[in-house]
Amino acid sequence: METLCVVGTGYVGLSTGACFADLGNRVFCLDIDEEKIANIRQGIMPIYEPGLKELVERNIHAGRLFFTSDYSEALKDSRYAFIAVGTPSGVDGEADLQYVRQVAEMIADTVNHQLIVINKSTVPVGTGDWVAEIINKRREGSPLAFSVVSNPEFLREGSAITDFMSPDRVVLGSEDRQAANQVAQLYLSLRCPIIITNLRTAEMIKYASNAFLATRISFINEIANICEELGADVREVSRGMGADKRIGNAFLDAGLGWGGSCFPKDVKALAHMAVLHGTQPQLLQAVMDINRNQRRRVVMRLRKELGSFQDKVVGILGLSFKPNTDDTREAPAVELIHLMQNEGAMIRAYDPQAMEVASRHLPRVQMCSDPYQVAEGADALVLVTEWNEFKNLDFEKLLQVMRKPVIFDGRNLWEPERIRSSGFTYLGIGRGTSI
Ligand SMILES: NC(=O)c1ccc[n+]([C@@H]2O[C@H](COP(=O)([O-])OP(=O)(O)OC[C@H]3O[C@@H](n4cnc5c(N)ncnc54)[C@H](O)[C@@H]3O)[C@@H](O)[C@H]2O)c1
Repeated sequence: METLCVVGTGYVGLSTGACFADLGNRVFCLDIDEEKIANIRQGIMPIYEPGLKELVERNIHAGRLFFTSDYSEALKDSRYAFIAVGTPSGVDGEADLQYVRQVAEMIADTVNHQLIVINKSTVPVGTGDWVAEIINKRREGSPLAFSVVSNPEFLREGSAITDFMSPDRVVLGSEDRQAANQVAQLYLSLRCPIIITNLRTAEMIKYASNAFLATRISFINEIANICEELGADVREVSRGMGADKRIGNAFLDAGLGWGGSCFPKDVKALAHMAVLHGTQPQLLQAVMDINRNQRRRVVMRLRKELGSFQDKVVGILGLSFKPNTDDTREAPAVELIHLMQNEGAMIRAYDPQAMEVASRHLPRVQMCSDPYQVAEGADALVLVTEWNEFKNLDFEKLLQVMRKPVIFDGRNLWEPERIRSSGFTYLGIGRGTSI
């Protein structure tokens, strides 16, 4: 049993802390947001993540999981300090490291025993060295014995707990091999491959992985747009491609493009790093352009179908950037809504989990209690997030309440023939009909 501290109690930090506690460790979760900490202590989770609440409560009751805003309390007995604070996009697309800096400074000001600082936040290559520099500079005169390890996180929102407990691999990077080995011990019970590299390589593995996944999505979206013009069906194309073991079928679903709290900022940050160091990130640039155009293309196709958006009512199904999360950061729905509102559309929406979060930055959207209320008087219904509960809607019932029978299936969730036979005009992504 080890004592460790996880700094930042967001999607990554809270899941990581709860999982490490469940593996038998004593874990202090630390956040500067005191309200968040007070709520978690009372069993109110700051995010929706399947299984998280039960895991947190179980480990609090077992006396292994603690929540605090006090750095001294969290770090007093901890031999490991995981950094899991946000690294949002800065003005030029670079990663904003202000929160990481704050944590490094607080560690330098608080700790007086040997410590391994482990970076879980997604940070530009070289940040591990920079964190060490900050701590060393602040401790001039009374040096701190510490090592820095990069441990990028690959969990996905919506399946964070399962992903943490059954990872494809754990990546650890450090110039101090012994420190990396010590961190590896924390993961041994997960029985997964552990890849140990130098610090900068580990940092790059995270960016390269996210950029590659975003590339696959932009690739299939580009293919989808060609399919649409040529009478091919991208769903079948994906199936045919994905059956090839060299390709595989993950991240090969055409749709409204990638969003969320990671891909957009990470692809941008990697491109920014490349330019800063004199290389031309041509592919990354194209990947981002295709993604941006994917949303605009949907708006263009809907405008064509409706004549214009002026005074039209558009119903949106799904606001989170993907199912099983309430995260709406860079969600396709948010951009689509803004684009259509700018052209005069009135928006009604429903999401099983994300309406409370979304209504904070979408004040002009009328939130509804279910898909059928969304459809009332609507000129078009757009499926944006493929939540399970949208799979089997009663299309006859929807038809009765809509003003115009137009459905845009932004995730290719439904069978076009089924929808058309109910009397709708069906628009999907890359589902060309034979010419
Ligand atoms: N969300 C994901 O799915 C995911 C997956 C892999 C990696 N990551 C990376 O992990 C990092 C964290 O992402 P997230 O989505 O969990 O962020 P988040 O915004 O949900 O949470 C960050 C937390 O850090 C806290 N914080 C900020 N400054 C602090 C400080 N000085 N001291 C203590 N707490 C502080 C905030 O209050 C917040 O609660 C990012 O770098 C992200 O790119 C995220």
